[in-house]
Amino acid sequence: MLLSLYLVLKCLCCNFAMTDYASQGKTHPFNVVDLNSCCNHLSYYTALSRSATCEGTVIVQGFDPSKITCGASGYLRQEFRELELLDDITNLRYNGQLPESINGQLRNSVLCQYQQLKGKGYCPQHVMGPIRWSEIYPMQTFQVITDSSWTLTTKSTTDKATEEVNIQSQKKSKNVTGCFVPAQGSKTIASTLKRKAEEGLNSDEPKSKKIRASFGPTPETPVGILWDSVNYSCSYDSLFTILCEIWIYNPKSWTKSFYSFGNQGKILSEGYKKVIRGLETLENVRNDVRASLKQENSDLFPSGQTGTDIRDLISYIFTSHHNISLGYRRVSCNTCDFFQDLDNPPERVMSILDGTYKSINEWLQQWLMEPSICDCGSPMATSRMYDQPPSLLVFSLNTSRVSISKTIRIKGSNGKFTVLPLRGIIYSGGFHFTSYIITPGKEVWYHDGMVTKRRCIKKGHLTDFTEDSLKTSVEKNSSGESVERHAVVVLYSKK
Ligand SMILES: *[C@@H]1O[C@H](CO)[C@@H](O)[C@H](O)[C@H]1NC(C)=O
Ligand SMILES: *[C@@H]1O[C@H](CO)[C@@H](O)[C@H](O)[C@H]1NC(C)=O
Ligand SMILES: *[C@@H]1O[C@H](CO)[C@@H](O)[C@H](O)[C@H]1NC(C)=O
Ligand SMILES: *[C@@H]1O[C@H](CO)[C@@H](O)[C@H](O)[C@H]1NC(C)=O
Ligand SMILES: *[C@@H]1O[C@H](CO)[C@@H](O)[C@H](O)[C@H]1NC(C)=O
Repeated sequence: MLLSLYLVLKCLCCNFAMTDYASQGKTHPFNVVDLNSCCNHLSYYTALSRSATCEGTVIVQGFDPSKITCGASGYLRQEFRELELLDDITNLRYNGQLPESINGQLRNSVLCQYQQLKGKGYCPQHVMGPIRWSEIYPMQTFQVITDSSWTLTTKSTTDKATEEVNIQSQKKSKNVTGCFVPAQGSKTIASTLKRKAEEGLNSDEPKSKKIRASFGPTPETPVGILWDSVNYSCSYDSLFTILCEIWIYNPKSWTKSFYSFGNQGKILSEGYKKVIRGLETLENVRNDVRASLKQENSDLFPSGQTGTDIRDLISYIFTSHHNISLGYRRVSCNTCDFFQDLDNPPERVMSILDGTYKSINEWLQQWLMEPSICDCGSPMATSRMYDQPPSLLVFSLNTSRVSISKTIRIKGSNGKFTVLPLRGIIYSGGFHFTSYIITPGKEVWYHDGMVTKRRCIKKGHLTDFTEDSLKTSVEKNSSGESVERHAVVVLYSKK
């Protein structure tokens, strides 16, 4: 993050270097800056605005002008526009002219109300040219986002929450007036998370205590993807929410694995890297993968309000189209030494059509080692063997009878077993897909891009669920009615 080298010449014989970050808030009569390694316009601004005068500014070597001439990103422009609207609202409120209907407590709700009152084409007078909007080029409609609930803590309610009491008494001892309590999760600082993610990207070593990077406000909380009501996106949302929770625990190693899945895996992992640096949103990454799938097959991956079949999606995402074989399928008899290699070697995605097995793991054991009888009359087996212990396996269920194993076991060619824990379940029902995300700490989280939006809701610990109960999920849909959904896709992966 602090790549840019920002040099300060205190005097001619004594100079030293500092980063743009460290220089914030300082002013220097002689300001020597190296813009070449600044990664964006924000760094340019920070480094250059340290100067007291134009004459006192020295720019060493050339720099890339496109970083400051190619326009701000759409997100940044939107942020500035929203700040302009908030300015307008603050001004009206200060002058007592704000209509009573604008009574929201949080940013999003206030903006929503103001936009409904004024219309999407209303742009305050003083807004500057490049970010102006109008009736002809209106601002997009603010989406109603359910903000996390909050309460103003008063003296009487603090008694109830011991934690809050502690904070209050700490404040009293430091003689801090007022009664603000830090919001939940606000202890985690975004930069720490980014640093962790970068550590993850820069080291291959599986750490003894794995550090998890985060897309969201708090670590250990999966982050969901917002459902797209124009181009229905629930199959992508449910799968990518699970995959991003898998990826984030070891970005470097998973980036390598995702690349091996093919084109879409590559777009996903490159996208996730941008998301942890705050340069992209999970929704845009999803849309990029969609665009690439649509280009490959517009019948299976349509836009608009036609759903995408989750089975088509997983077979495109996980079936390598590079003809890489993951292992072999061999029939062999120990009695007469007969053996033969067969077609259909093991793959990353398996379909379970047969409901006679009790659980996924039971089905898998049978599939890996199918008993038969040799021509010589002895029992033999058709075995499927992975060359490398697979890091991720996906099951597509075409039956609702098989229960969801919490772990699966795969015997390797050396006779050792690899155990893969359950990491995600996709449920289908009511023309919608939702998902359960299971963290390495075995917490179960629920996501529905239409109802929980970007949030995931904690459902409990995996030990609270039976393998049978994981087959179905009953949750409220967006009209508040309970909908029963059945597991259709199950993902297992190493940590
Ligand atoms: C705390 O602040 C009050 C008034 O703001 C002052 O009278 C009092 O002396 C302060 N106590 C300490 C320990 O600083
Ligand atoms: C929906 O998909 C169409 C075609 O790919 C695209 O032009 C449009 O921008 C998409 N709309 C949204 C809201 O993503
Ligand atoms: C994969 O291999 C099969 C047979 O070996 C061949 O027919 C097919 O064209 C190959 N596909 C690609 C994409 O290379
Ligand atoms: C199983 O797959 C077949 C087609 O392959 C489909 O017609 C059927 O509806 C599926 N059953 C379930 C329970 O998904
Ligand atoms: C919610 O579920 C009910 C009952 O299944 C259904 O009638 C309704 O259309 C659903 N609402 C949405 C928005 O899907």
